[in-house]
Amino acid sequence: MVILRNRQDLSDFSSSINDKQLTLGFVPTMGALHQGHLSLIQKSIEENQYTLASIYVNPTQFNDISDFEKYPKTELEDIKKLESIGCDAVYIPSNQDMYPEGLEIDEFTIGTLGDYMEGHSRPGHFDGMITIVRRLFLQIKPSKAYFGEKDFQQLQIIRKFVYDEKLPIKIIGMPIFREDSGLALSSRNSRLSGSFKEEAPFIYQSLLKAKKLIENCKPVSEVISEIKELYDSSIFKLDYFIIAEEENLIPVEKLESNKSYRAFITVYAGEVRLIDNIKLDFN
Ligand code: PAJ
Repeated sequence: MVILRNRQDLSDFSSSINDKQLTLGFVPTMGALHQGHLSLIQKSIEENQYTLASIYVNPTQFNDISDFEKYPKTELEDIKKLESIGCDAVYIPSNQDMYPEGLEIDEFTIGTLGDYMEGHSRPGHFDGMITIVRRLFLQIKPSKAYFGEKDFQQLQIIRKFVYDEKLPIKIIGMPIFREDSGLALSSRNSRLSGSFKEEAPFIYQSLLKAKKLIENCKPVSEVISEIKELYDSSIFKLDYFIIAEEENLIPVEKLESNKSYRAFITVYAGEVRLIDNIKLDFN
């Protein structure tokens, strides 16, 4: 596997691929890689002639400085994991490569997709996220890029961005990879201590419960109150629990047929913020 440590290395690598008109799959990450990330990379390896992952903890998308400082960094292990699954290249840029003019945000209107959930709870998060994804796309010029449904709002914002900017990149959304317990894999799980770690599967269980209530035709407002009540007596602090339409991510009170919905949740396990979501089925 080739390790690309700066823009020049990257540009040599990607121009050789573009010259030969080979397909390049790209998986951006912030490192501390787990099977969720690797499932995206494996999909890219299946679908493209070359696959490139990136590792960069993007400072502008953290609205909480201590979350940024505590973000786990495991570069050596990450490289080994990428090598073991046959990833062709990893781009590990510096701040200078990504933000040569300082930590500035690029102009792009996120629009209503960013109004609720993470956009509301983490002001500026999506501006920083889209800035780095845009810059990575422009530097790498992939044919396809892979993102997890775990960050569903992020995925929808990126889809809209690529559509609006008419970029020739196909965005592929991948299912949430979970532990056997149901806990969605996350780089932040390594920061969970004792009882938070033990009880973390509760988050997915609460989503399953919401899904079941919806399948049993319970009104959305009652489902929301029931799930909120569950958290009142748990060790987790609920940030939000919302049922929203997949396409526009606007919270709803009523479900309409022919539309797709998801339940979205974010909780604090002590200082650690965990997010998850589930697709809802109903008639
Ligand atoms: P990061 O949190 O490292 O996630 C990288 C990619 O892995 C994202 O597309 C995320 O949705 C996906 N992912 C994380 N956990 C997953 C799981 N359990 N199952 C499936 N996919 C999972 O998301 C980011 O980094 C950053 O915002 C980034 C896009 C790299 C921009 O900085």
